Amino acid sequence: MDRRDFVKTAAAGAAAGAVPSLAASSAAAEAGVTGESGRMSAPAIHTRATRPVLVADVSSIRYRNGGPESAIERAFRGITEGEDILDACVAGVNIPELDPEERGIGYGGLPNADGVVQLDSCLMHGPRRWAGGVAGLEGVKTPSLVAKAVAELTDHHLVVGKGAQDFARALGFEIHDDLNTAASRELWLEWRRRVDPGHWLDPEERLRDTGRVGEDTDPDTIRRERGPAPAAHPDPARAARLRRFHDASLAAGLSMVDDGLIDPDSFWGTTSLEAVSPDGDLCGVTTTSGLSWKIPGRAGDSPILGAGQYVDNDVGAAGSTGRGEANLYNLSCFMIVEFMRQGMSPKDAGMAVLERVRHNTVESRLLNSRGLPAFDLRFFVLGKVGDYAGVAMYGAAESAFAVCDENGAREEPLEGLLEGSPRD
Ligand code: GLY
Repeated sequence: MDRRDFVKTAAAGAAAGAVPSLAASSAAAEAGVTGESGRMSAPAIHTRATRPVLVADVSSIRYRNGGPESAIERAFRGITEGEDILDACVAGVNIPELDPEERGIGYGGLPNADGVVQLDSCLMHGPRRWAGGVAGLEGVKTPSLVAKAVAELTDHHLVVGKGAQDFARALGFEIHDDLNTAASRELWLEWRRRVDPGHWLDPEERLRDTGRVGEDTDPDTIRRERGPAPAAHPDPARAARLRRFHDASLAAGLSMVDDGLIDPDSFWGTTSLEAVSPDGDLCGVTTTSGLSWKIPGRAGDSPILGAGQYVDNDVGAAGSTGRGEANLYNLSCFMIVEFMRQGMSPKDAGMAVLERVRHNTVESRLLNSRGLPAFDLRFFVLGKVGDYAGVAMYGAAESAFAVCDENGAREEPLEGLLEGSPRD
């Protein structure tokens, strides 16, 4: 089999969803495919897609900001009309970013512990092989456009905090005093009430009363799993109080999810959109207000290449929503693309990384009563030939991801690694 035949075979198999794990790399080895260095290397799938395909989280299909199109529909239209693939995707995600009803990103995204909306975004342009990102950006409704400006106009990749806002201001972006809506501010106030109505910096007693503090803040558990950190800090009492507060903050936020006040998709809410063009070019864009009630300045996975987003124009693209720290620890999206480079299908690659995350989740505060991750994580994975998958740590019946191709925009069920719910 020569290289061209191998490529055709791999493409046909992938398009039919029939590429078993590592089958393509085995075939490449048989075919003697070598990398530029001349050494045997895992193959990229060099076949071109013949149709545009987009995959995304559900906010990309459920929000229109009062307009005619969702993010995924806008992006699909742009790509089919010949717009630059990344420009089309960014124009798409601008729709939910600007939608005040969408609580996980942009305007109206849930704020940090101080009640300030801080936004993260990153994007990668496959054919141009560049990327840009912003983190902790305040006052700009469309952080994805600022991330694009970082990539297009500078030699940097990631600009954060006040510097990111100054950069946006210098480029003429409108800077708003507050990106909260009445609804996002009310939810933040409710979180503060739950953390502690009287003294929100010392919430342990209040949460113990409500049964929200258990093993997480037990001193022995902390020593065993996280080390006796407070003693090593300049002010041990303050350090201990901060750690208690942080654990209690997360518990209070999750209690709001349990009580149905926050959609689980919004708590770590993120919009991530991956696309392949008819020419087989790939891109991805991710935008988020990050973990609700986060410590001011906390950056999640979304602005970090390889964690919440990765694109390799020779191979595929992956984006994610869910607990960002899990993706940061495991560089999940980079690993998914690397697994696809080795020949795994999008689904197998996503599942392999979910299994790695599950294996690496050991602290009791991160585990549910079944000893499984107490959080969800979702991956939207796209191969170069338009093969795709949506996978999740938990595949609840109603959980879905968005797809758009020549058959239109639709929701498809996510395939879960684990059954049940993260909160079981
Ligand atoms: N995945 C979004 C975040 O954790 O910030």
